[in-house]
Amino acid sequence: MKKLLVIVATLALGWAMAETTSYEDAVADRLKPAGNVCVQGEPCETAATVAAAVSSGPKSGDEVYSTACAACHASGALNAPIFGDAAAWEPRVAKGVDTLYDHAINGFNTMPAKGGNASLSDEEVQAAVDHMVAAVQ
Ligand code: HEC
Repeated sequence: MKKLLVIVATLALGWAMAETTSYEDAVADRLKPAGNVCVQGEPCETAATVAAAVSSGPKSGDEVYSTACAACHASGALNAPIFGDAAAWEPRVAKGVDTLYDHAINGFNTMPAKGGNASLSDEEVQAAVDHMVAAVQ
């Protein structure tokens, strides 16, 4: 019985300490500056907003391809021409790159407009087309 009490007491103490630590962590989190860069008279920039500004530029063709196009074009889902498959791409490239841009941006048969990712800019989709065409040339 004594043993049990000791175990219970130890558990309770452990719990109380864990509580204290997480509370302290929470306060420390709220207090820490998180890499703030503040210049008087200008809006305060945190490391997070700086990082967001850097990564909000246009995505590269490679990036767009991996996130928005590879789902079909890596596997050939819905009979999509597979990335790097020269025979599948040859007749498409023959249509001219402007037609491919148009079809990638606006959709073509079962190819959804912008790969179904409407938040991509036309330029980003074109970069992804360039990336796919470059892989077979
Ligand atoms: C949901 C699946 C799917 C996604 C996602 C997808 N595609 Fe496609 N894509 C297809 C299919 C299927 C075709 C073949 C359509 C056909 O020829 O009828 C195709 C064809 C194409 C073609 C050739 C068009 C032509 O005129 O022959 C291009 C270029 C293309 N896709 C670019 C892209 C780009 C760029 C992305 C990403 C932004 C993308 N696709 C995402 C399914 C997809």
